[in-house]
Order: sequence, then C-alpha cells, then structure tokens
Amino acid sequence: MLSQLIYASQAVHPMNEDELADLLIAARRHNAHAGLSGMLLYANGSFLQILEGEREALDSLYARIVGDSRHTRLRLLSRAPIEHRKFTQWSMGFEALSDTRLTQVLPGFVPATPYPLVNPDLIRNGTVAEVLLDLYQRNSDAPGATTGAAVPVSTDAA
Ligand SMILES: Cc1cc2nc3c(=O)[nH]c(=O)nc-3n(C[C@H](O)[C@H](O)[C@H](O)COP(=O)(O)O)c2cc1C
Repeated sequence: MLSQLIYASQAVHPMNEDELADLLIAARRHNAHAGLSGMLLYANGSFLQILEGEREALDSLYARIVGDSRHTRLRLLSRAPIEHRKFTQWSMGFEALSDTRLTQVLPGFVPATPYPLVNPDLIRNGTVAEVLLDLYQRNSDAPGATTGAAVPVSTDAA
C-alpha cells in the first residue's frame, strides 16, 4: 500500500554542508533503491521530512531514522495511506548556506527559496507540514530555480 509519513526532529548539533551532503547522498542512494521519494527540509537546526512509498519500505526506513544519533526529539506528525505520490523525486531543502556550490554539484539540493524557511520545530501538525513542504517543492520546480537535475526514483504506479 502506498503511504506517506511526515515527521519533525531536531539536529543534535548544527549540521554543516559536508554533513548535509553526506546525509543527502546516502539518503538518495537508499531511497532510489527502495522506491521512496520525498523531501527533507533543514532549517534552524531542525528537520522536517516527508517520505512516500510502499508501507513496508517506509516503516523500515523510519525505524532506522528514529535510531539515528544525528537527531533527537522526533515527532511523527502524520502517517497515512495515499493514492498517489505528491513528491515524485527525492530532494532536500535547506536554509541559506554560505556556499552555493552545493546547489550546483548536488542534484536534489533545493536552494533557499523566496519562501522563508519556517522553523520545523514550530510545526505541530501534519497537514500544515504537508502544505509547507509542497510549497517548497513547487518553488524548486519553478523556472529559474537552480535545483540540479531531478532523479525520479520510481513510477507513480503502485
Ligand atoms: C534527518 C534525517 C533524515 C534522514 N533521511 C533518510 C532518508 O530519507 N533515507 C535514508 O536512507 N536515510 C535517511 N537518513 C539516514 C538514516 O537514519 C540512516 O543513517 C541510513 O539509512 C543508513 O542506515 P544504516 O546505517 O542502518 O544502513 C536520515 C537521517 C536523518 C538524521
């Protein structure tokens, strides 16, 4: 069954670009393999992530994410079956970082957007989180956005 999961968490210490890149590269590799798509936002030391895919793959990834010592205070905001994916790619949004090189070399990084990155720590509600993540996604799809080439991880059929 195709499902969606949204959670928020707090980094144990501020993540630098190398750490974010490591996270994105590993996540991209695994998510593509597992047919998972979604988006990870990092701002103000907090994460907000939406993941979409088959229930089993989602649950096993979430168990690993929960056990990851890079973050703490995980709050599961929503977990529900869905009919089709809203996030057909895997990407990562981040607050303005000094070095824009990452946006050029790493497909999947979504540069800071005209929408202010809301502190994920303030998001308490799955619906609000989804609307917010959707806004970032739309913006990254917009003409002129400097997002790298998108890497589709699977078809919509499930
Ligand atoms: C905020 C956050 C988001 C993550 N998102 C993903 C993800 O989408 N996909 C993924 O494979 N790993 C993700 N990880 C990494 C996993 O927690 C874990 O380190 C990775 O899957 C490797 O697991 P393993 O060491 O058990 O093989 C994330 C970690 C953090 C801290």
